[in-house]
Amino acid sequence: MSIAIAIDGPAGAGKSSLSKEVAKELSFIYVDTGALYRTIGLAASRKGLKKEDKAEIISMLNDIDVKLSFNDEGTQIVLLNGEDVSSYIRTPEASMFASAVSAIPEVRAFLLDLQRNMAKSDNVIMDGRDIGTVVLPDAKIKIFLTASPEKRAMRRHKENIEKGIDSTYEEVLKDVNQRDYQDSHREIAPLKPAEDSVLVDTSDYDFEGSKELLLKVIKERM
Ligand code: DC
Repeated sequence: MSIAIAIDGPAGAGKSSLSKEVAKELSFIYVDTGALYRTIGLAASRKGLKKEDKAEIISMLNDIDVKLSFNDEGTQIVLLNGEDVSSYIRTPEASMFASAVSAIPEVRAFLLDLQRNMAKSDNVIMDGRDIGTVVLPDAKIKIFLTASPEKRAMRRHKENIEKGIDSTYEEVLKDVNQRDYQDSHREIAPLKPAEDSVLVDTSDYDFEGSKELLLKVIKERM
């Protein structure tokens, strides 16, 4: 039987960078499910659709193929109709589009099996918003990873600068608050801690400290 660790939490809590490190340490596969929603958002925006075009986005699902793959270093790659779109899905616009499409039930249903299948044969750390509540309700360990909106915005802002993406702290904070609101107030699979999840708050820790804390919580439960 494979082991699954679910890591849910709001945008910018460090889920992906921390999960990646922890996965390496435990020799688990790291699955970033946000990339899937981002890819649907990218497909819609490439088609010239708007966030409000729900019916068109739903019908677009019949024409697209989304797959996850891993390169030689074990890094996840997301394929849209066979094209590696991993680098196109990280812009602030893609983030907002992803958040909008993720509120559409048909989009969530479209991605459900793909996510579940990843956890069938391999030990995985899967990060997202509804992994512990919907995708893998039987996950062995469930973490709700969070930090204050201000800390998360500051981290995202620094990351953007490092990547050469135009960024101001105020704008990132506004985006963080808007996405938190959208992700936790949608009707379907809203962002909320699973009842049996462990809350890990990284507000007062740097990256190394957060990693140690997360590893400790996980190892205690393995
Ligand atoms: O983790 P991320 O920032 O890459 O996610 C992008 C968007 O996708 C986010 O606004 C919420 C949505 N999402 C979701 O609804 N469920 C998931 N399991 C993962 C992401």
